[in-house]
Order: sequence, then C-alpha cells, then structure tokens
Amino acid sequence: MNETYESVHARSIREPDAFWAEAAEAIDWIKKWDKVLDDGDAPFYRWFTGGRLNTCHNALDRHVDAGRGDQDALIYDSPVTGKVERYSYRRLRDLVAKFAGVLAGAGVVKGDRVVIYMPMVPEAAIAMLACARLGAVHSVVFGGFASNELAVRIDDAAPKVVVSASCGIEPGRIVEYKPLIDKAIDLAHHKPDHTIILQRPERPAPMLAGRDLDWVEQMARATPADCVPVDALDPLYILYTSGTTGQPKGVVRDNGGHAVALHWSMKNIYNAEAGDVYWAASDVGWVVGHSYIVYAPLLAGCTTVMYEGKPVGTPDAGAFWRVIADHGVRVLFTAPTAFRAIKKEDPKGELLAKYDLSSLQTLFLAGERTDPDTLHWARDKLGVPVIDHWWQTETGWSICANCMGIEELPVKDGSPTKAAPGWDLKVLDEGGHEVEPGQIGALALKLPLPPGSFPTLWNARQRHFDAYLRDYPGYYNTSDAGIIDEDGYAFIMSRTDDIINVAGHRLSTGAMEEVLADHPEVAECAVTGVADPLKGQLPLGFLVLNAGSSVDPGQVVDEVVAMVRERIGPVAAFKEALIVKRLPKTRSGKILRGTIRRIADGEEWKMPATIDDPAILDEIGEALSTAGFPRK
Ligand code: COA
Ligand code: AMP
Repeated sequence: MNETYESVHARSIREPDAFWAEAAEAIDWIKKWDKVLDDGDAPFYRWFTGGRLNTCHNALDRHVDAGRGDQDALIYDSPVTGKVERYSYRRLRDLVAKFAGVLAGAGVVKGDRVVIYMPMVPEAAIAMLACARLGAVHSVVFGGFASNELAVRIDDAAPKVVVSASCGIEPGRIVEYKPLIDKAIDLAHHKPDHTIILQRPERPAPMLAGRDLDWVEQMARATPADCVPVDALDPLYILYTSGTTGQPKGVVRDNGGHAVALHWSMKNIYNAEAGDVYWAASDVGWVVGHSYIVYAPLLAGCTTVMYEGKPVGTPDAGAFWRVIADHGVRVLFTAPTAFRAIKKEDPKGELLAKYDLSSLQTLFLAGERTDPDTLHWARDKLGVPVIDHWWQTETGWSICANCMGIEELPVKDGSPTKAAPGWDLKVLDEGGHEVEPGQIGALALKLPLPPGSFPTLWNARQRHFDAYLRDYPGYYNTSDAGIIDEDGYAFIMSRTDDIINVAGHRLSTGAMEEVLADHPEVAECAVTGVADPLKGQLPLGFLVLNAGSSVDPGQVVDEVVAMVRERIGPVAAFKEALIVKRLPKTRSGKILRGTIRRIADGEEWKMPATIDDPAILDEIGEALSTAGFPRK
C-alpha cells in the first residue's frame, strides 16, 4: 500500500534514525555507519558517523557496473555554441577518472580544496566529480561573480588548484574568464599552485608558463585515478553564499548524508527514476546546480541535461520547449524568473505548438516565491503540475515541497506546500514560541536538520552558531519569515535579513553597501531590493554625498554602478541609485531599509516608532516618486 505524505512525514520526525538508515540502503557503502544520527556535539548534528563511501563511485561507477554504462548520463545542450553532445555513464566515468588523474598529477590529494570557476560546460561537472573521486573538496564559484569575489573565496578555501575555462558565452558577448582569474589570483593572499584551463575555441586565452596547465594536454597524458574512500562526514564541497556582509558564508556539504538525502529526493520529491531525463535549468555555480544538475540525477541513475543558454534569446522564448522535446525531458526544474522571461516574450505561449512536450511530467520551481500569475500561466500552457518548492543553499534540498513521488497534494497559490519529510518546520514569535496557524513569524526548523543539510560553515563554527542557531535554541533559523496555515501549508513571505533575491540569485545588500561606501564622494549609503516584474527584485542604491561635494551626482551614480559590477560582478544587476540628502534611521542609528523598500514598492507602511526624524521619510518618498517608483 502506498503511504500518505502525512504518514511518511510523521515517521521521518518520530524515527529519524530508522527513516534515514532505510534510505541509506540505496547507497553503496565501503563500510556501514556506526551511528545514523550523531548528537554527540549538539547543536551541531552529524549523520552516518563511521560510514565510508565515495560519492563519485555512487554517481558513476556503480551505474556502469550495474549495466547502465551505455545510458546517457549527461546531455550537453548549448545553443550559444550550437553544440549538443551526449555522454554515456561509461564515457563520463572514464573522463572523470582521467581528470581525477590530472588533479592528482597537479598534487591534489584527499582533503585538498579545488576552486572551479566555469561556464555551463560538461567539464565543470567532470571537475566536480573528479574532486569527489579523490576525496578533494571542490568550491564552485558562479561565473557571473567578479575577480574580487573570486579572490575572497580563494583566500577562504585556500585551493591547491583552480580549474577554469578561457571564456563563458553570454548572449551577445564573450566573457573572458582568464583575465578575471589572473586578477583574482593577484588580489588573493593565497596562491594556488596551478590553474587548469579549458581552452574554448570561441576565445582561447594566453597561458602563464609553469602555473597554467592546458586541460586537453593534461588529459592526453593522465593516468585514470580510482575512487578514494572517504568518511561520511568528510567534506564533499564548499559553496559560498551571500551573508549579511561582504564576507560570504562557506556552506560545507558532507559525503554520506548528502548522497543519501539527494538520492532519496529524486524518487520521493521529483518522482524521477533511473533512466529518466531530468533537467535543472540553473547553473553549476548555485546550489540547485550542485544538487540537481550534478549529484542527485547521477546518484539516481537519471540522465541530466546541462544547458548553456537562457530561457529567452537563445534563440527565442521556445528554447526550453525545444530542449524538452529534443531530449525527452520528464522533469524540469528552474526559477520562476525564467518563466516570467518566457511569458513576457511569448505571452500566449504560441511557440509551444512547435514542439512535442509529451515527455514532460512535472515542472518544479524554486529560488524565489512562485507568484500566482506565473504558476497559472505555466500550468495552463504546459498542462502538467507546477510545483513551487522552497529551499536554501544551507539546506541542500527542499524544506517544503509537494512530494510527487509520495502523494500529490492539492496546490495552494503562493505556497511551496508542506514541510518535506525530515524537516520539522515551525513558525516562531520573537520570544521563540510557536505561533497560531495563520500568524506570521520566523520560519525555523527544529533540530536536528535531516541528512544533506550543511553540517557546518568552512572554518567558521562560531559564525555557524551565531548566524543560524543562537536566536532560537534548539532550532535552525532560516532567516525567512512566513506562515503555516491551518492545513499545514507554508507561505514564505520575506527574508528577515539584508539578503535580496534577484532573478533567483541570492545577493547581499550589505556587500553592495560596502562597495558604495568606498566611493570617495559618498558619505552614507543604503541598498534595498525593490520589486521588479521580471527578476522579482532589483537592488536600488541610496547615496548621501559628502557635504559641499561639487562632483556631478549623475557621475557618482555611474561610478558606483561600475564599481559594483567590477567588484561583485554583473550578476548583482546593480544599475540604479538615487541621491538623497539624508537616510532614515532609528534612534540607535539603524537604517530603515525595510520601510524604504515598502515605500518604493507602494506597499502600506507604518511610521516606525523608533525613527529619529520622520521628515526624512518624506524626502525619500519624494526621491522615489520622482524616479518613477513604485514601478510594479
Ligand atoms: N558569467 C558571466 N556573466 C553572467 C553569467 C555568467 N555565468 N550569468 C549571468 N551573467 C551576467 C548577465 O550577462 C547579465 O549581464 P548584463 O548586466 O551585462 O546584462 C548579468 O549577469 C545579470 O544576469 P541575469 O540576472 O541572469 O539576467 P539576464 O538579464 O541575463 O537574464 C533571465 C534574465 C531571467 C533570463 C535570467 O536571469 C535567467 O535565466 N534566470 C534563471 C535563474 C536561475 O537559473 N536561477 C538559479 C536558481 S534556480
Ligand atoms: P539560495 O540559498 O540562493 O537558494 O536562496 C535561498 C533563499 O531564496 C531562501 O531563503 C528564500 O528567501 C528564497 N527562496 C528560495 N526558494 C523559494 C521559494 N520556493 N519560495 C520563496 N522563497 C524562496
């Protein structure tokens, strides 16, 4: 008999040991664990202590051994280069083993870090899996980040090797990666021994003799490397994500719990089985790319699609439909912003008629809340269930979802449904008490978090505690606010910190303020996220210039826009700032960013009781209205 969602969820919370031990049977272990849930260092919990395995073996070798060698493991589809290439499990395993040999030849051993800064090419996945094969720890940095951000990550992770490509290809322009890497290595205090560069024919890069190694040349002479056994608790990767300051948080993922949870999620959440074609249209630089372009589909024996293109413009708003039809995609996972972009270009969905989408079973959306318009449009046009699901870099897989492999629940607009098995979600008031259904509060997860969630931050145990565990003892604070209604459906309303969400990308307004404050003419500044119909949110700067400044304010704005692009990267999408006389603050000096945002978005707002000078909000309102806000 099939279990219900309620019974599976209840069992996962009541008997986590038994629940996850059963899920762990689907993974090949070199040595089974001594303990399933290890609470010896609470509130830092560990899963599968004493277990030994290799994640790359579980993602590749074992499928070849089990007779899946000829099945496609990965399909590279690149409208920006006009290439489509298929990699069988056998071929991918052999390439990964070879590249692991290249890394070993460059001195990489178990526990060493490797930074990967690559566009959406198969070699990015090959490099990640090769690290996993050796027990080395990869740290992938999204290609839309600038040298300075890369340098910060190089300094924190201290990699032995940086793996990259000569260029990335954005519609209408080639992004030369090599000068960005050279500059990042110059800026960083830590110097990697080598870089390994994939020369792309679209724009090869000059190499630095001795330090830079050519991917193809190295592969030609490498000896394939075997899988190195690692402990379940050993780190598989570090993924940096925005915190409230310019210093990103290094989210660590372990090997054992990660393999177990991601494998479990493929059937239970996505209803995908071995042999199915699964496509996460994201980027390997984000957590979605780590979990659902690379690891989960391969752990489950699916075929993963690696798409180097955009939802629109490569060449048109039918690009996603073409990929689904060409490769028989069963599950598509992307961000709502991608669907808003498609809907804007082709509101009636006319391009759909050109393609056979009969393979598609479900569309999953995440990265930001799915607005009801986008939900309805996608459901009407595609005729399949559209599932919003909520998660974070830290959690590694979804906290709330409609678990399509367990029981499909009715969809409520604006809700990512209910807590997935493993997650004990509560809404807390400021005192840490659970609120009544329907009341807004902090979304917090009762500890322990399930396998696959982050065991720690890289070299920052205290920051881990301070940022996530301190506010509500016994809980993980998600930093999202929301409600759970009387039916148990969660609604994710907003972040409680200074993080904004731009086109599904998580960005820190604090990091942007640090850049603006460095402009010599800027006395004070603030950045807030304002509503945008395409990207969900866009950053908007507020600048107070030095008293008596004689520089043209327009010039200062242009300069700060260029500075953010140069220091954080184009992904920040920081294009606009307003000059104001003063910033609204509380009496203790805290800038009232939330109130500014509400005024900019035309929402109702209350005069904060703690405001220092209410007249400043009128000035801000005037500046916003002159600039055409609200623009919704
Ligand atoms: N390397 C270098 N630059 C990159 C980059 C990369 N890998 N990815 C994006 N950029 C650049 C873009 O070219 C753009 O530069 P521009 O200011 O010169 O135009 C800038 O970063 C902002 O990129 P993006 O936010 O992606 O906006 P866009 O205007 O290029 O495209 C969408 C808009 C909606 C089509 C696009 O954001 C999209 O496809 N989003 C999907 C979201 C997603 O996958 N999220 C991951 C979480 S699931
Ligand atoms: P990231 O760590 O980049 O995955 O960003 C995580 C943040 O994105 C969350 O804390 C939320 O604020 C937001 N987010 C992700 N998915 C959703 C969703 N389905 N609904 C609402 N917010 C989401």
